[in-house]
Formats: sequence, C-alpha cells, structure tokens
Amino acid sequence: MHSMNKRHLLKTAALSAIALAALAGCGKKEEAAPPAAAPAAAAAPAGDKLKIAFMYVSPIGDGGWTYQHDLGRKAIQERFADKIATSFVESVPESADAERVMRDMAAQGNKLIFATSFGYQEFVQKVAADLPDVKFEHATGYKQAANVATYDTKTFEGAYLAGIVAGGMSKTKTVGVVASVPIPEVVRNINSFVLGAQSVDPAIKAKVVWVNEWFSPPKEAEAATSLINGGVDVLYQNTNSPAVLKTAEERGARAFGKDGDMSAFAPKAHLGSAVIDWTPYYTKVVQDTLGGQWQGGNFWWGVKEGAIDLLKIADDVPQDIKDRVAKARAGLKDGSFAVWTGPVKDNTGKELLTAGQVADDKFLTGINFYVAGVEGKVPGTGGK
Ligand code: GUN
Repeated sequence: MHSMNKRHLLKTAALSAIALAALAGCGKKEEAAPPAAAPAAAAAPAGDKLKIAFMYVSPIGDGGWTYQHDLGRKAIQERFADKIATSFVESVPESADAERVMRDMAAQGNKLIFATSFGYQEFVQKVAADLPDVKFEHATGYKQAANVATYDTKTFEGAYLAGIVAGGMSKTKTVGVVASVPIPEVVRNINSFVLGAQSVDPAIKAKVVWVNEWFSPPKEAEAATSLINGGVDVLYQNTNSPAVLKTAEERGARAFGKDGDMSAFAPKAHLGSAVIDWTPYYTKVVQDTLGGQWQGGNFWWGVKEGAIDLLKIADDVPQDIKDRVAKARAGLKDGSFAVWTGPVKDNTGKELLTAGQVADDKFLTGINFYVAGVEGKVPGTGGK
C-alpha cells in the first residue's frame, strides 16, 4: 500500500443526464479523444500528447461504478488538457472481447490503458506481456507485472458506514444485499455492511441474492424484489445500476446508492450513497507517467485518502446514527479504527478474528465466508 494524496473533495455529479442514459442501450462506443479545452500557447501538438484509454464493463450512464470511473477520466482530461488525450470504450464484457479492445487501444497509440473491472485480469496479463511499452492499470485485480499496476478503493469502508445507517433504520431487523460477482471484494463488502449494521444492533440478520453480473438492471431489480418479499426493509448492493434503489422506492423500502451518488434516482428510498472518487488516483498515475516515474505496484485507497465516503445521508436518519457514522469515518481517517477488528465470527460460529485483532490485507483480500447473521453460504464454497 502506498501513501497518497490529501483528501480530495468528492464531486457531486449532475444526475439528470445519467438518469436518461442509465438504462439505455449498452452498445460499444468509442469516443474520439476530446480536443484540448483551450489551445494555450504552450500546448503540445495533439500528436505529442500521452494517449490514455479506459475500458469499461458497463455503460458510462450506469450512474455507479463506470459513471464514477468516467468522472475520473474527465477530471484528468481537464486538468492535463494540453498533455493528454483520453478516450474510452464502454460495455466491454469480461471475455476475449476485452483482449481485442485493449490490443486495438494500443494499436491506436495509447500508452496507458485503464482496465476497470476485475474480470479483465487474465486478458490484461496476456496483452501486457505482448506490449511491454504500454502501461496497464487494472482496477480490483491482484496480479501485477512490470507494466501492470493494480488499484482499488476500500469500498468495504463505505459499505460499513452504510451498514451503520441500515442498523439504525431497519424495522424488520433484516437487511439485504444484491450481490454481483462472487469474488472476495464483493463478499468483503457484504460482510462489512452487515458488521456496520450489527455495530448498532447486534440482532440484525442479513440475506444475500447473487445476480452473477456487474450490470443487469432487470436482474438487480428482481433480486431486490425477492429480498423485500423475504422481509428485508433496507437494501445494499454491489451491482452497478440504480435498479435496487428504484425497486426500493417503488416498494416503500429503503436502500443505498453505491459507487456514485444515486440520490436523484430514489428520493424517498435513498439513505445515503457510498461514493468512490477515482480522481486522486488517476491524477497520481498521470503525473507519474508524464514525469517518467510510473513504477506500477498495488494501490488500495480508502476513507483516509478521500477515495470513498458515505454521502447524502437521509434527513430522517436519527442524529445518534449520524454521529456514529461520523465517529467511524473519523476513526478510519486517522487510523484509530479498522472495520475488520475482532471479535469476528463466521456464520458457522467459527471465530476468525479474536477480540481486538485487526485483519491484515492478506485476510481482507481472501474473505470467502459470511459473518454471523448472514444467511446461506458464499457461492463456490458449497453454497449457491
Ligand atoms: N463493477 C464492475 N466491475 C467491478 C469490480 O471489479 N468491482 C466493483 N466493486 N464493482 C465493479
């Protein structure tokens, strides 16, 4: 883990455009690199600019994960307007398509490629091995190479803060999570949400429905519906669209935005949004690359570094719950609090962290169990 930039103000986005685009078609589009904002006297000729490409798994109008990556892209484009030219391809499946898209990006002269979803990992490794003069940045992966860096945000810290709110708001004492792809990152987020809820009310139980995709609004909505029908009154999600929130709005339940500020999609249901800000990291990578100092590595930034925070907590959340969130946030910022501090038991009763024991990164990146109070088993571990 590397130390990093100071807290960066999270930018709130104008959501009307996303709302329109959110559930629209997911066809692949390639955006021509935008021209430099104002051709300053010292601006480099277009051909001398560092070309940077972003590969996205869902549409930029998803309102969440990809929308937020694209805000980061726009921020660096604006900041380094005379030095870089960025472009993106959206809705690229985690399949051989990803390899083709990255080879195409490199053929077009891109020297820095951001691959922004876990399932691109093997394709990044393959393409990077063939193209040593292109640098790759892989979000949420764990395999590095001389020209491959990995990076992620501690989304589990945002999930924990949301969990505190959920614990204070659930009347049925049963919260639910619409889960995407069963990888440790997602399992860690589910558990962290539940740990946050149980920090307020230890009696809280949780149910999980997996949709096995990052972005599928119909499946996300269906999963949310089945959780609500099963007695869940507060929902979290690890999928990319606002479909869970919208379903909660329709059904009179409550839910959170994830990755982006989703408050505009469900004004009544929205309890808060766990928002990622990729801009500090993207700024660092561009600065390092332009300065010839890019070294690769693995970066995992959290609340402390201004990479994630729970924003727009609903007005009807009681003050004592808001105070608990503020306390946890302050502790994450100054390092006096860690989400994964024992005692922590899994849902079979096995103690995995003893009282006061703080999980290290090895533990955190290998989580493949549900904490006590979560129903069922993690897919691939005997569950479904
Ligand atoms: N959405 C699409 N890909 C990812 C990923 O790798 N991690 C998370 N948290 N969300 C995603």
